[in-house]
Amino acid sequence: MEMASVWLLVLVFFSETCNVLAEGDPERETLISFKKSLENPRVLFSWNGKTPHCNWVGVTCELGRVVSLSLPALFFKAPLSPSLFSLPSSVPSELGELTQLETLELGLNFFTGKIPPELGKLKQLKTLDISGNALTGTLPSQLGELTQLQFLDLGNNLLSGSLPVTLLTNLQSLTSLDVSNNSLSGSIPSEIGNLKNLTDLYLGPLPEELSKLKSLSKLGSFI
Ligand SMILES: *[C@@H]1O[C@H](CO)[C@@H](O)[C@H](O)[C@H]1NC(C)=O
Ligand SMILES: *[C@@H]1O[C@H](CO)[C@@H](O)[C@H](O)[C@H]1NC(C)=O
Repeated sequence: MEMASVWLLVLVFFSETCNVLAEGDPERETLISFKKSLENPRVLFSWNGKTPHCNWVGVTCELGRVVSLSLPALFFKAPLSPSLFSLPSSVPSELGELTQLETLELGLNFFTGKIPPELGKLKQLKTLDISGNALTGTLPSQLGELTQLQFLDLGNNLLSGSLPVTLLTNLQSLTSLDVSNNSLSGSIPSEIGNLKNLTDLYLGPLPEELSKLKSLSKLGSFI
């Protein structure tokens, strides 16, 4: 065989192999099943076909791995989408397979159900924003495994139970923590004193009736 044909053969072999790898990329499959679980919203029309998943809207890759999934307010961008009225979706636990994720932003998306404990597998996560959904249940203690986390926003949901101590013990890189406007109960664990880098902290709610105190100019706490 001539040298040129050999090279051609090698080239064909490699490009075939690459295609197979792209098709079967587990992160691509995870994203596709995420899209399906959302009933294929129109805003994710770019998530299909031959487009590499790293080029899909809301997806950012580094070295071929998904490092950011940023899809806030998905359904506000398509307000007439019929799927708006049939959204039983919970945050899919498969997202725990995107193990290189540093950013996960799914705020304002009408998600219901519990926070999947599998999110604790996202050990590289620095930003987690699932605020403004309708998430219920308690905060999974597995969130305490996200030791790189700097920004955690769980505010404006329907979460209950207490703030897990593991969160306050382990997440020492946190600079911003928002758990406000949920139905959390109990007192603030003293371990909150571990979060030495915290600059923004949102707790609450305070009783709505406070808004009736029209003369109020100072609101103290017993620190
Ligand atoms: C509290 O959260 C709910 C549910 O996300 C939202 O509809 C409501 O506007 C929020 N309230 C405030 C005061 O932000
Ligand atoms: C806290 O912030 C300082 C200054 O930005 C940083 O050097 C340090 O690594 C942070 N601590 C943690 C646990 O992330």
